[in-house]
Amino acid sequence: MSGRIPREFIDELLVRVDIVDLIDSHVPLKKTGNNFVARCPFHVEKTPSFSVNRKKQFFHCFGCGASGNAITFLMDFSHLDFVEAVEDLAGFIGVDVPRESGDYQPSSSNKDKSSQLYALMEQAAAFYVEQLRTGNEGKKAVEYLKNRGVDSNCADSFMLGYAPDQWKALASRFDQALLLEAGLLVSKEGGQPYDRFRGRLMFPIRDKRARIIGFGGRVLDDSLPKYLNSPETPLFHKGKEVYGLYELLEKNSKPQRILIVEGYMDVIALAQFGIHYAVASLGTAASQAHLDLLFRFAPELVFCFDGDKAGREAAWRAMEPAFSSLKEGRQIRIMLLPQHHDPDSLVREEGVDSFVTRVQNAETLSDYFFGHVANDLNLSEMEGRAQLINKARPYLEKLPESIFKDMMFTRLKQLSGWGRLDVLENAATLVSNKVPNQAHKQGKKRPQDNARLSTARVAIALLVQSPRLAEIVEQQEIDWNGLEFPGAPLFKNILQLIAEKNPANTAVLLECYRNTAEEKSIKALALLDLQVSDDNIDTVFCDALNALLTRSRDACIAKLLDKDRSQGLSAQEKQLLRNMLTAK
Ligand code: UTP
Ligand code: MN
Repeated sequence: MSGRIPREFIDELLVRVDIVDLIDSHVPLKKTGNNFVARCPFHVEKTPSFSVNRKKQFFHCFGCGASGNAITFLMDFSHLDFVEAVEDLAGFIGVDVPRESGDYQPSSSNKDKSSQLYALMEQAAAFYVEQLRTGNEGKKAVEYLKNRGVDSNCADSFMLGYAPDQWKALASRFDQALLLEAGLLVSKEGGQPYDRFRGRLMFPIRDKRARIIGFGGRVLDDSLPKYLNSPETPLFHKGKEVYGLYELLEKNSKPQRILIVEGYMDVIALAQFGIHYAVASLGTAASQAHLDLLFRFAPELVFCFDGDKAGREAAWRAMEPAFSSLKEGRQIRIMLLPQHHDPDSLVREEGVDSFVTRVQNAETLSDYFFGHVANDLNLSEMEGRAQLINKARPYLEKLPESIFKDMMFTRLKQLSGWGRLDVLENAATLVSNKVPNQAHKQGKKRPQDNARLSTARVAIALLVQSPRLAEIVEQQEIDWNGLEFPGAPLFKNILQLIAEKNPANTAVLLECYRNTAEEKSIKALALLDLQVSDDNIDTVFCDALNALLTRSRDACIAKLLDKDRSQGLSAQEKQLLRNMLTAK
C-alpha cells in the first residue's frame, strides 16, 4: 500500500548493519575462528551447527540448511514478510525507511486511504456483529449457528456477524465511495450501488496483524451461491491470504503444525473442538504464496482434503506448490478424509481424539506422492517404470537442493530400477550445494568435463563470496565472444550485476537475487567452503579465471578450425578466430 522501498536503501542497510550484532541480539552467538556459532534457531539441535560469517554478512545452518542475509534472518526468525523485515532492520540501526515517489505509488494520501479502508472494514464487521446479536433478523442467524453447533464463544472469537437482508444496510450508513473500494458495495452500470452481502452469516477475514481485509458470507439455507467472498481489493488478495491465521496465532504463535482445510466452517468447528491450528485457503487451491506464508509460522503443514473425487484431485494439484515450497526443515503431509465428510462433519461425528489421530497419522508427502504416481502403473513392466520416471521427475526437480531431494531421487531410482537417473539429477551440479570433492565423485563418468566444472564453480563461488574480485576480471578486458564454459551465463550475469550495483559484500549481492531464478544457485555458491585463506583469494581466483579462459578459448579455436576444414568460415568467424589466437 505504500511506495516502494528504494533498492539503494536496502543495499545500504545491508552494509551498515552487522549481521553478527543483529543475530546476536536474538540468538546469543559464540566466536569460533572466523565464524560465530550458536544452536540453530530454525531447528532443534544439541550441538551448534548454525554459523554466522561477518565478512560475507551471511548465516548458514549446516544442520537444516537455513541460510541468507540479515533480511532473510529476520523474515525467518520473526516470521516477517520482506517489507516488514526491512523495516525491522532499519529500526535496529535507528533509521527510517524511505519510500520512493513515482507514478504507481502511494504517498501519504494512499496511506491515509488504506487506513480509512481498514477502519471501514472494522466498522462494517462491528455492524454485522451487532446485527447478529440484536438485529431483527439476527435471531435467524443465531439459530442457524446453534443448529450447526457453533457456540457463542467461538462465534465471538471469529467475530461472526450477520448482514441483514437489505439493499442498503451498509450503503446508508457509511461512505459509499469507500465501501465500493472495500468491495462491500456492488455497483451495476446505471444503477444505484447496493450492499454486496445481504441475508448472510458473515465471516471476517483478518490478516496476521488482526486487520480485517475481507469477508466471507454464507446464506442461511441451501440457496446459491452458498458463499460469497470479498472481491480483490487494495486490502484483499485471495491468492495470498488464508482464513483463520490471526485466530490461530492468537492461540499459539509457534504451532507445531498447521492444518489446511477447505471451508470457513471447518476452521470454526475444529477451533471449537480445541483444534486451534487450522486455516482455510478461501475456496481456492493452496498456492505457493499460501504455503510460504504458513511455513513462516510452523515447520509442518498438513493438507486436509475431502475423500471424494474432487478432494483427491485437489490433493494432487497441491503437489506442485508443495514441492516448490519444501525447503530443508519443512514438512508436508496429506490427509484424505473418508467419503462424504469434511473436517466439520467428521470432528463432530467421531470426536476430537480420533480426528487428532488422523492428523498425526497423515501420510507423508513422499508416501502420498509415490503412491499416487505409481497408482495405475504396472511397475513389473519396463513401460510402467518408464512412465513412473516421466511422471515423477518434473516434480522432484522442483525440490530445492536438499537431503530430501536426494532421498526422493533415490526412491525413484529404487522404484524404477533406473540407475542412470544421477545423470539428470546432477546436471545442475555446478550450482548444487555440495562441496567440491563430492562434485568430483559424482562427475567421475566424465572426468574432463568435471574438472572444467570445478574450476568454473571455484571462480564463480569466489566472485560471489568476494564481489570486489570483479575488478580483476574488468582489468583483463576479456572479449567474451565465443567463450563458453559451464556456468558462463551465470558468471557473466553476476559480473554485470556487480558492475551495475557495486555490492559491498555477499549479502548485498544476494539481495539482488532475492526471488529470482538464480537465487538458489547464488546462495549455494555463497556457502561453498573453498578453503582459501584471505591472502590467497586473488591468486586462486586469477588462476581459476585464466584456466577457464584458456580452456574455453582452446575449445572455441578447435571448433572454428574444425569448421574451417569442413565447411569454411564466415568473415565474422574468421575475425573471431583471429581474436582468439591473438588473445592467447
Ligand atoms: P464447502 O462447500 O466445502 O464449504 O466449500 P463448507 O465450509 O464446508 O460449507 P458449509 O457451510 O459446511 O456448507 C469450501 C469453501 O469454498 C468456498 C468457501 O471458502 C468455502 O468455505 N466456497 C464454497 C465459495 O467461495 N463459494 C461457494 O459457493 C462455495
Ligand atoms: Mn462443511
